Amino acid sequence: SQAQIGVYGLGTMGSALALNMAEHGFDVAVTNRESDWIAAFLAEAGDLAERLHPHDRLESFVCGLKTPRVILFMIPSGAPMDAMIKAITPLLSPGDTVIDGGNANFHDTRRRAAELGARDLHFVGLGVSGGELGARTGPSMMMGGSDHSWQQLGPILREIAAHYEGVPCVAHLGPDGAGHFVKTVHNGIEYADMQVIAEIYSLLRNGAAMPPNEIGALFTAWDRGPLKSYLVEITGRLLGYTDPETGHPMVDVIKDAAGQKGTGRWTVIEALRMGQSASMIEAAVGARGWSSEKDTRQTAESILGGSLGAFDGTPDVLAEAFMAARILCYAQGFRILAAASEEYDWALDFAEIARIWRAGCIIRSALLDDIAGAFGADPPHGQLILAPEFAQTLARTLPALRQVVCSAVHGGHAVPALSAGLAWYDSMRLGHGSANIIQAQRDVFGYHGFERLGQEGKHHGPWWD
Ligand code: 6PG
Repeated sequence: SQAQIGVYGLGTMGSALALNMAEHGFDVAVTNRESDWIAAFLAEAGDLAERLHPHDRLESFVCGLKTPRVILFMIPSGAPMDAMIKAITPLLSPGDTVIDGGNANFHDTRRRAAELGARDLHFVGLGVSGGELGARTGPSMMMGGSDHSWQQLGPILREIAAHYEGVPCVAHLGPDGAGHFVKTVHNGIEYADMQVIAEIYSLLRNGAAMPPNEIGALFTAWDRGPLKSYLVEITGRLLGYTDPETGHPMVDVIKDAAGQKGTGRWTVIEALRMGQSASMIEAAVGARGWSSEKDTRQTAESILGGSLGAFDGTPDVLAEAFMAARILCYAQGFRILAAASEEYDWALDFAEIARIWRAGCIIRSALLDDIAGAFGADPPHGQLILAPEFAQTLARTLPALRQVVCSAVHGGHAVPALSAGLAWYDSMRLGHGSANIIQAQRDVFGYHGFERLGQEGKHHGPWWD
């Protein structure tokens, strides 16, 4: 029998998704660039192997698929994807769909969708979140592509997705690059939430001398309340580990230099390109960059001094500050989504995006259910921070965020994400800001002109008379 879907690329994510599909009763054609991986994969598949149909050549892989075909590529993004598109398109027929399930840049996805579209082929950018375990047991998936492709793919993706109270965490979000863009912003929010957690950890560790296992217990307690989220849960867990080699807390032997593969940076680049600023995400990307300059920081500590003052907040104050920061970081992420939706005419459904992030993905959190509700009720100006229940929560939690940032700044603790969130909030809550000074300066040095309050048109100041 012919397979309902093909999976090309049997690395961690590809294998896990193929097994997930097989387990849900789909017949899956599988292949890999290095064909010797295929036998090893099947050997580990156990009973599921009977639904997995191996091919060692691209031609037979394509021929083994029911038409119109659906082929999922799980390979490194960038040049390898272009090479595979080039290799496979001569073998395809009109109506076939090629899917890129990697963390691709959405500009590439848009280009590829246009190129394949010109040949009556369909290209889908599928954001897949949840890591290996998610892919195997239920990821959250963000699909961008044609209605035709969604009709082909939807029934499979709805089965293999994570479910939140019975609702599958997958949606057709828009055409071409929409799915990959939403996944990129998901990762941006992931960066900021991780950074906020790291800053809170650091305040407790270095400002309140709390040992890692106690901080872990605190995160675990928070995971039972309104801060419940996957990232809080794993942080609580990882802080409880001891290094088997040295007997030290495991976090103490891990080098404090963070890696990054690019999606957080893309979020910031796109935000700036669209005249926006996702300052908390930018802070998180920047902090990872600074962290990697470990040698410089070590020298700097001896020259500039590395002493830190006490942090004078309680865990309860930190929890409130965390809640405020988390709301602000989601709010910034959704603003970027709104800007892109307008620029590319995607008509993104923000409530739907929040709904499919409630389970399966890395940023899943209790807050997302409330966010879905808030966007469902059309908040003023489309802004999450202006939705009545969020405005209220912010009003309650902001004093704590102020206290935490003040104490951190006073003690010399770097809190780039927390303070960026606070600065954004304080900028947004004033109907009258300080940009009149910027406009006046621009006019003085460059005759750039300004608008007068309540008057249309371009004006110049008396400094030019
Ligand atoms: C997910 C993750 C996943 C991956 C990121 C990590 O949603 O499952 O976001 O896509 O872990 O790429 O990104 P960095 O390596 O840049 O931290």
